Amino acid sequence: MSTSPFPSPSIPVSIDGPLKVLLLENIHVSAEEMLAAEGFSVERLKGAFKPEELEERIQGVHLLGIRSKTNVFEPALAKAPNLLAVGAFCIGTNQVDLKSANRHGVPVFNAPFSNTRSVAELVIAEIIMLTRQLGDRSREVHAGQWRKVATGSHEVRGKTLGIIGYGHIGSQLGVLAEAMGMRVIFYDVMTKLPLGNTRSMPTLNDLLENSDFVTLHVPATPSTEWMIGETQLKRMRPGSYLINASRGTVVDIPALARALKSGHLAGAAVDVYPEEPETNSDGFVTELQGLPNVILTPHIGGSTEEAQAAIGKEVATSLIKYVKAGATTGAVNFPQVEAPLIPGTHRILNVHRNVPGVLRDINKIVSDLNANIHAQVLSTDANIGYLVMDLDQDVANPVCEAIAGLKTDIKTRILS
Ligand code: NAI
Repeated sequence: MSTSPFPSPSIPVSIDGPLKVLLLENIHVSAEEMLAAEGFSVERLKGAFKPEELEERIQGVHLLGIRSKTNVFEPALAKAPNLLAVGAFCIGTNQVDLKSANRHGVPVFNAPFSNTRSVAELVIAEIIMLTRQLGDRSREVHAGQWRKVATGSHEVRGKTLGIIGYGHIGSQLGVLAEAMGMRVIFYDVMTKLPLGNTRSMPTLNDLLENSDFVTLHVPATPSTEWMIGETQLKRMRPGSYLINASRGTVVDIPALARALKSGHLAGAAVDVYPEEPETNSDGFVTELQGLPNVILTPHIGGSTEEAQAAIGKEVATSLIKYVKAGATTGAVNFPQVEAPLIPGTHRILNVHRNVPGVLRDINKIVSDLNANIHAQVLSTDANIGYLVMDLDQDVANPVCEAIAGLKTDIKTRILS
């Protein structure tokens, strides 16, 4: 048996009849509608598949759509020679063996930015809720208590919002906060163009010392792990608030609980935790439970129907662009190529092992068959090369078959 991590060279991907799409885990109907409108045969199922079930059902599938609960690992990928791409209709992609998919010539697309607005709106709500202590007042009235107080309640107009991580969410949030009359400052490790009247702070400490509200919008990376701990919390203004709807590993929760109990912070809103339950039926415990003016939510920052619909559209668009033009822009595990289609040509898409001499072999085939190349774009990573080639229509089929027969071939198909 071969020990190579790469699949054996193949014949071109076979697509007889309509392209077969399998969508699992109740992916939003917006995706089904878009894919069906392309003439694809779409099966949309509610549940996730266990590994054995996926291995059986993936055979013959051209496009697979999953969310977070279906694992797509080597055994399933090995059984799906016709699989063109995987759509992860969510943000994370660690449920897919990305390296293995790459070596099988299968790009994986996700939707990292479809819920940007949903998170920004949640944070706006929390800013007002915290400064008016709405969580506590609401709980009290539900319990039959009437505590009409103004002490410690404030308007947000004129207050300073400090945004850590001025990316998609951070910058969107800044625009919304300015519309409410807030002053907005941010700190980012990259140089970012400030929108509106927003100002960039030179250091994290400058941001912490100058904000009434500090909100985190950074990714989970080694540089952001526990970036807000005891020292940083002490730098924050007395009576200020902390909001974390980014990732659970960014804030040291015991340190935050101490800062709240001592009264140094006036409140906090937390949506993400270092360890989160796997399902809605699992219990959950955090040191922040029961503390006054602390809003705790179960990682719902991006969970809106609008975001689900946008995710469906975003991933379906990527899949369609890959099927129809070979575009891999945004794929998380693949060399990126996006080339305009040239009318009157046929496009060959070839994924091959990234070893010396492949392009020479391919160009020899093209020249031996007297084919005329209209355009050729190659992009590579450490393991594979992805070649998009536009040829005269009359020679494209034999060229495609000859390329698919090369020892270095992983996956080849032709667009008609
Ligand atoms: P993004 O990639 O657009 O922006 C992140 C920004 O953080 C970038 O500008 C980057 O330069 C900056 N950054 C990285 N390391 C930094 C550091 N050490 N210090 C300061 N800035 C740093 O990401 P996006 O889409 O704005 O998402 C931000 C976070 O929100 C991510 O962690 C994401 O996972 C999380 N998120 C949470 C959701 C929820 O349901 N609560 C939903 C969607 C995203």
